Amino acid sequence: MPALEILSARNPIDFDFDVISCPASYKEKFLANINELLALPNAKDNNTLVHASDIIEDKEITIPGLPPLHRGHPEIHLRRGVINASHLEGESDSEKAFFVGDLSYVYQQHLRWKKNLPEIEPFYAIKCNPDPYVLRLLAGLGIGFDCASIGEINQVIGLGVEASRIIFANPCKANSFIRQSARAGVEMMTFDNTDELYKIARVYPGAKLVVRILTDDSKSLCRLGLKFGAPLVTVPGLLAKAKELKLDVIGVSFHVGSGCYDSSAFSDAVMRARSVFDMGKEAGYQFSLLDVGGGFEDATFEAMSATIREALNVYFPDRENIRIIAEPGRYYVAKAFSLATNVIARRAPPNADSQGSQDVDMDPEQPSVMYYINDGVYGAFNCILFDHQTPQPYVLSLNGSFHVPSSIPKRASSVWGPTCDSLDCVCPVTQLPSSLQVGDWLAFDNMGAYTICAASQFNGFQTSKTTYTSGAGYLGGEVREVLRAYSKEEGADEE
Ligand SMILES: Cc1ncc(COP(=O)(O)O)c(C=O)c1O
Repeated sequence: MPALEILSARNPIDFDFDVISCPASYKEKFLANINELLALPNAKDNNTLVHASDIIEDKEITIPGLPPLHRGHPEIHLRRGVINASHLEGESDSEKAFFVGDLSYVYQQHLRWKKNLPEIEPFYAIKCNPDPYVLRLLAGLGIGFDCASIGEINQVIGLGVEASRIIFANPCKANSFIRQSARAGVEMMTFDNTDELYKIARVYPGAKLVVRILTDDSKSLCRLGLKFGAPLVTVPGLLAKAKELKLDVIGVSFHVGSGCYDSSAFSDAVMRARSVFDMGKEAGYQFSLLDVGGGFEDATFEAMSATIREALNVYFPDRENIRIIAEPGRYYVAKAFSLATNVIARRAPPNADSQGSQDVDMDPEQPSVMYYINDGVYGAFNCILFDHQTPQPYVLSLNGSFHVPSSIPKRASSVWGPTCDSLDCVCPVTQLPSSLQVGDWLAFDNMGAYTICAASQFNGFQTSKTTYTSGAGYLGGEVREVLRAYSKEEGADEE
C-alpha cells in the first residue's frame, strides 16, 4: 500500500507548484485540494487555508550559460535528483553525486547581515565559493567583493560589478596581477610588507592601500596569521616607507582567521586597528577605511555582530568619515549547499547481511562496514583536509524510499571517497542503518564553503555539479526578482 509521507513543515508551509507551465484550471484544482487537506480534522487551524493571492506567480528567468533555476525547498530537489537518477539507471554516470544550492539561504544571510551590521559593507570573499549564481545574486544585491587574484577580479568584473566595489585583498601579489588590477581600475589593495610597497610603487603608484595587520587568530579553525599580517611593531616602519614612496595608504584591515569560534577575537582586533589608525596619523595619513575581514560564522553571527558594534563604539566613537567594510565568505554560503552522494560500493564482513548480525553492533567505535560514495576528499570533501571540517552523512534514500524508519538498527560504519587513495576517507566512523546498500544515497548538509572551489578531478573523477533553486516561499520570489532585475541591468536574455 502506498504510504503518505508527511514532510517536516516549516512555517509558512511551502508548496512547490509550477503555475507557469500548467493550465489555469489546475491552479483552482490545486487550491481546492490543498484546502481539503488543510480542513482535515487534524489540521485544526482554519487560518491556514490557502487563498489564490497566497500563490506567488513569477516568470521564468533564464541566464545565458547557466543551468536552470528551479523553485522550491532544497529537500525537494535532493529527492528529485535521486528520482531522476533512478530513471536513468543503466546510463553512464546516472548515479552521479550532485549539489543542491539554495539561493534563498544566501539572500536570507544578507538580510541578517544588514539587520545586525548595518554600518558595515560586506565584500564577499569569492575564494570561499565562486559559484556563478551566488556571485550574480550578491552582485544584484549591490554588495562588494574581496578578490585574491586577477582571475577572481575578472570573474566579478565580467558580471558587470564596478571596480570600486572590489578589494584586492591579497597582501602578496604578483607584479603582473598588480598591473592588471591597475588596468581594470581596481584601486583598493592590501599589503603587509615592504617588498609589496616597492612593487606597487613601480607598477601602480595610484593604488589605494590598506595595511593588513596581524591579530590573534588562535580562536579560529584556519589560522591565517601564519602567512599574512604585519605585526604592530613593524607598522610604523611600513607606513614611513609608504610615505617615502608617495603611496596612498587609506586604511587598515585584519582577519581574525576563518571559522572563528570566539567573538572576543574581533574586539581585540578592532582595538589593534585603532592603534594603527593612530600610527597612520603620526605618519601623516588620514585613514578613512577599516576592513574587519572575514571569519563570521552562521551559528555565532549575532554574538559576533554585537561584539563588533560594541568594539566600534569603544575604539571608533567618531567614525562618520570612516568607511567600514568586511570580507565575509563562509557566512554567506556554508549552509546554502547540500551534497547528495550515491553509495557505489560496500565492503562488509561475510555475515553482515545475515539476520542476527544486523542487531548486533560489536563495538560502536569500530566500523564494521565500509561504504564508498562518489565524491570524496579529492573532490568536494577537500574541506576535510583544507578547512578542518568533519562532514556528517544522513541517509537520503534507502532501498528506493525516502522514508528511513528509525527502528532500523544502526551499525558503526566508515564512509570513503571513490578514488584509489586511502587518504580519501570522508567519515572514519558514523552510525548508519545496517540495511544500507549499494545504490542508496547519503547526503551532507553545510557543503557550501571551501568545497567546490578547491575540488580536483584526481583519478579521473569529475567534480559534482549543482542543481539550483531560488528557494521556497516569498524569499524564493525575491531572489528571482533580484536576479531578474540584475539581468535586465546587464541586458541578459529573459523569457
Ligand atoms: C583575505 C581573506 N578575506 C576573507 C576570507 C573569508 O573568510 P571567511 O570565509 O572565514 O569569512 C578569507 C579566507 O581565507 C581571506 O583569506
